Amino acid sequence: MTIIDGKATATQIKNEIREEVKRMVERGERRPHLAAILVGHDGGSETYVKNKVLACEACGFQSTLIRYEDDVTERELMDEIARLNADDSIDGFIVQLPLPKHIDEQKVTEAINPDKDVDGFHPMNVGRMAIGLPAFVSATPLGILTLLQRYDIKTSGKKCVVLGRSNIVGKPMAQLMMQKQYGDATVTVCHSHTPDIKEECLRADIIIAAIGRPAFLTADMVKPGAVVVDVGTTRVPDATRKSGFRLQGDVDFESVAPKCSFITPVPGGVGPMTICMLMQNTLKARQNNSTHL
Ligand code: GUN
Repeated sequence: MTIIDGKATATQIKNEIREEVKRMVERGERRPHLAAILVGHDGGSETYVKNKVLACEACGFQSTLIRYEDDVTERELMDEIARLNADDSIDGFIVQLPLPKHIDEQKVTEAINPDKDVDGFHPMNVGRMAIGLPAFVSATPLGILTLLQRYDIKTSGKKCVVLGRSNIVGKPMAQLMMQKQYGDATVTVCHSHTPDIKEECLRADIIIAAIGRPAFLTADMVKPGAVVVDVGTTRVPDATRKSGFRLQGDVDFESVAPKCSFITPVPGGVGPMTICMLMQNTLKARQNNSTHL
């Protein structure tokens, strides 16, 4: 059994990006520039955005953080997006989600110029990805695909079960795993109304768990030798930690790991790859090249 080291892989990719940026600067080109809009002071969003800014530094990118209070109007946000769309010094930008209830997230997402949508959330990018055209692919599925590639895990012709059907992980993951030029696998998507999830999982060579239910996937659901990718990051109370909580994946790691050929841990598996893929998308945006894999 091999534990897939997402942290080490992410560090390696950030170093590769840094080298590429160094070469760009030596050629006299401008560094990639990522902007992030953060609304309010949600603890999770603050941490994510801080880590994105730090990743920009690690990669040699310029970054700009634009903050608004919780009472920002949708109009103000839309005006800021229009400004960023028109600013040639910004290669890509993100609006950190979730947004306050009075703001329509879909409207905001669709206002972003698809060529600067490094989150890959705009319907134009989602649709282009789904039919195999060059597009920005959202960071989590792209990170998982990259981990599978870097660990030389064969996916072509394999049976893959995706647990979960969210717009930012389950659906794009299933699309990518299905497509000939990426996963080339036979994909089954399971969700809360799938009656026989255990049987579906037992048939799978690759299981990608993204349902947000802590320790959902147990050893009795996994075929010996399977590859298991854990996308879950639920905070569960843990009195032994200074923070009072720990991150629990969707996989019961202790029981499942001994049965696997490869498994991603939580933390240190998929998580570190997501920000690193955002950096990769930003580099591509800078290079005006929307081929992202
Ligand atoms: N909130 C949680 N994850 C993400 C992400 O990947 N992008 C944005 N914009 N917001 C998020």
